[in-house]
Amino acid sequence: MPKIAVAGKGGVGKTTFSAVLAYVLAAAGQTVYAIDADSSPTLGQALGFPQELQDQVVPIIEMKDLVQERTGAVPGDSGSYFRLNPRVDDIPARFAVEYRGIRLLEMGVVRGAGTGCVCPENTMVKALVTHLLLREKETVLLDMVAGLEHLGRGTAAAVDAMYIVVEPGQRSIGVAEDIARMAKELNIPSVWVVANKVRAEEDLDFIRKHIGDVPLAGWLPRDDRVVEADQLSAAVYDASSDLAERVKAIAKVSGLISEGD
Ligand SMILES: Nc1ncnc2c1ncn2[C@@H]1O[C@H](COP(=O)(O)OP(=O)(O)OP(=O)(O)O)[C@@H](O)[C@H]1O
Ligand SMILES: [Mg+2]
Repeated sequence: MPKIAVAGKGGVGKTTFSAVLAYVLAAAGQTVYAIDADSSPTLGQALGFPQELQDQVVPIIEMKDLVQERTGAVPGDSGSYFRLNPRVDDIPARFAVEYRGIRLLEMGVVRGAGTGCVCPENTMVKALVTHLLLREKETVLLDMVAGLEHLGRGTAAAVDAMYIVVEPGQRSIGVAEDIARMAKELNIPSVWVVANKVRAEEDLDFIRKHIGDVPLAGWLPRDDRVVEADQLSAAVYDASSDLAERVKAIAKVSGLISEGD
């Protein structure tokens, strides 16, 4: 089953797109792990998870006892040795929270992001992401931060498709270029741009002109129902059937679901 990463500049709509895509894939019969790899987790909200379920989700990085138990790290001793391959295979079943066929896990803030910091917490998260990416039966959808910190070289090799979300603005395009470059270095086989918050044809032209040779998988309009769903903490998927259809078409174009789904 596909392993998918969603990246892009802050605020472009990564979480919105990921949440709709998760439901599209679940509706096609896939078992979906939705992984919130952002520092301020909002994926549960965009998926419309009931508050009591959202409250149950603890970011893996904050599970100090678990990290200690699995890595053997000595708390408070940053110089101590710890295991670089902690056992994580039981964690998805134990800690994911499930609603409408979607299993949500939060990773939490990776410490020393961008510095390649090796600490027990980061090691745990990377081991878990790698484990999930290597499982065969489930679909994994990673809602990322711009810098791809959760993807190490070995991990990225298991990602089948990456979507870089952009909005019609120069800054999000600049970040998208950086991400596309990293994705290339990491050998991710299938990298797509998704244009979001499109107001008119001119916006699409602007995006097409600037994304270079990264293919456009599709586009989503600026839609007030997304804002309303956000205000109500309701699932974006339910709020706009237009958006749901467009994301479904994107999933087809990029081979995540088949024509008949
Ligand atoms: N197509 C759209 N139409 C209107 N508003 C949108 C659309 N897509 C996203 N938004 C709004 O833009 C804001 C940012 O969206 P979202 O949280 O999905 O972005 P993000 O890339 O995940 O942000 P962050 O980098 O903070 O995680 C939200 O308030 C959301 O409701
Ligand atoms: Mg987000």
